[in-house]
Amino acid sequence: MRPHRPTLPERILVVLACAMILKTIASTASNYQDYFPPNFASDFLWGRERHFRGAYQWAFYTHILSGPVALLLGLILIVERSRPRFPAWHRRLGWLQVACVLLLVTPSGLWMASRAAAGPVAAIGLAALAIATAISVALGAKSAAARRFADHRRWMSRCYVLLCSAVVLRMIGGVTTVLGADAPWIDPLATWMSWLAPLSAFEVYEWTRRRSGIP
Ligand code: HEM
Repeated sequence: MRPHRPTLPERILVVLACAMILKTIASTASNYQDYFPPNFASDFLWGRERHFRGAYQWAFYTHILSGPVALLLGLILIVERSRPRFPAWHRRLGWLQVACVLLLVTPSGLWMASRAAAGPVAAIGLAALAIATAISVALGAKSAAARRFADHRRWMSRCYVLLCSAVVLRMIGGVTTVLGADAPWIDPLATWMSWLAPLSAFEVYEWTRRRSGIP
């Protein structure tokens, strides 16, 4: 089998993506000052005081703590060079990631979707995202246990692409703010595009890989 060497544009894209992911993790952590204790005048919590006092707060805190962990763990796991060098660590961190995504990130995201600020269209998009992410990580774990490593790589990459919707959503938010766009359909559309666009790009990339004989 011909080994796949990343081209220069691919390398540049990877470096830019890593920078955006690390920036999202850092900016999430820097927002914690508005969440511990909850500041209902802050961007995200504004207007949510009533339902926050109920079960929502548990989903919220679970989500904002586990989301960045899943992004960071996924980044470490997906780095091509770490796998052959540290297979035992890859396994341990991999199971930790499966537990983090299946038990914390996706159930909390699903719960929070029911209260999505951008309304029912966004809520359905976020719920679909949570379900697709949970299915991807579960199938990724199953194929690893069955030692089907090409399938494992594909499902776990798909899962990470879906987790990166958090990064894409913030990028879209930045662009719309700069453009001063504030039509009511922008946020629901952005919610769907934050995962459908990167997922489509990933599927096209995988298809071209397979066509050139790379598993
Ligand atoms: C399966 C993947 C994910 C789903 C389904 C999901 C779902 C959600 C939902 C429904 C909300 C509330 C949106 C609203 O009410 O308008 C939310 C907020 C949030 N999510 Fe996620 N999320 C996912 C992944 C992530 C990841 C990987 C991170 C890592 C940074 C993250 C960080 C956050 C944060 C920090 C908030 C609170 C808002 C803010 O401070 O920006 N999420 N997410």
